[in-house]
Amino acid sequence: MRAVIQPVYGPPDVVRVDEVPEPVAADDQVLIEVRAVSLNGSDRENLAGRPAYARIAGLRRPRNPVPGSDVAGVVVAAGPEVTAFAPGDEVFGELPGYRGGLAERVAVRPTTLVRKPAGLTFVEAAAIPQSGCIALRATRGLSGEPGARVLVNGAGGAGGALLVGLARHHGAEVTAVDRRDKADHLRRLGADQVVAHEDEDWADHHDRYDLVVDLIGRRSPWRVGRALRRGGRYRMVGGRTDLLLAMVMVGPLVGRATGRSIGMLVVPQSAADLAEVTSLVTGGAVRPAIDRIVPLDDVPAAFRRLATGDNSGKIVVEIG
Ligand SMILES: NC(=O)c1ccc[n+]([C@@H]2O[C@H](COP(=O)([O-])OP(=O)(O)OC[C@H]3O[C@@H](n4cnc5c(N)ncnc54)[C@H](OP(=O)(O)O)[C@@H]3O)[C@@H](O)[C@H]2O)c1
Repeated sequence: MRAVIQPVYGPPDVVRVDEVPEPVAADDQVLIEVRAVSLNGSDRENLAGRPAYARIAGLRRPRNPVPGSDVAGVVVAAGPEVTAFAPGDEVFGELPGYRGGLAERVAVRPTTLVRKPAGLTFVEAAAIPQSGCIALRATRGLSGEPGARVLVNGAGGAGGALLVGLARHHGAEVTAVDRRDKADHLRRLGADQVVAHEDEDWADHHDRYDLVVDLIGRRSPWRVGRALRRGGRYRMVGGRTDLLLAMVMVGPLVGRATGRSIGMLVVPQSAADLAEVTSLVTGGAVRPAIDRIVPLDDVPAAFRRLATGDNSGKIVVEIG
């Protein structure tokens, strides 16, 4: 079968489309015929092997050379221990280990998969898992705070649309931060205010936000804390490894000392969360933003676009 191969960490040039052996489902696995895969910021990190946490899947080179985590497809075989799914089921979800999806077929334990609703295409379904689960966890609690001021840093990339959308759905006033040329995209997502990071540092907005969700953390706990109102919370989702460690080790102390809550948002891969956020998509509360749909052969170019940050929303690879 055909698959995308990333033999080493590096720039998008290391990626190629090639023939690989057919996967076989183990007793506790399903074999999925992949129809669509969406790319996340984590795929860019797993390609580059940076930040350091991206090497969890192999210190010197990726143990599984096939990238891609958010898949949608059809179950074509199921091992004898699998009871939740059967051949013919349309499924989607985030693959355990964040790799293996950019292939015509993938064998996987189905713990993170859910059934695809009939009203969603494979492309739409593939655009939901990782960013949807981040958005769900990040905005939990906002429904009890109508009018809360929320800032999303890095809102114009793969994961921002569902975050901005869910915060708005809960009645928040949303400030979205990204590159200047993504301002129109951010307004289309529903952001009330847009900040271009080249022009303005949101961390200088002192005492303003009830919640800051940071997809691309580059500031210290002290600095981000000053943008929060008393009682407000900062949650770092991704970004520099030294700052992630600082958020875990020092963030809670800075928060306690200043009457704020500062830390990291840990988002486990969860079928229950995916089902919950998908029901919000099918109910019309939010929808993912799709930058473009490309065939498997164009994945090297898609990784180049992801690496430069030129995508506004999700790049989705359609297979077959
Ligand atoms: N915490 C968890 O449990 C968990 C789970 C899964 C994933 N993650 C992490 O979540 C992150 C996923 O985010 P994503 O998929 O939305 O990433 P993404 O597609 O890379 O989006 C990030 C956006 O931020 C923009 N940006 C870059 N520098 C910026 C700056 N200084 N200020 C404001 N915006 C800036 C980027 O645009 P330009 O580069 O063009 O400027 C891009 O539009 C990844 O880091 C991933 O590792 C965390």
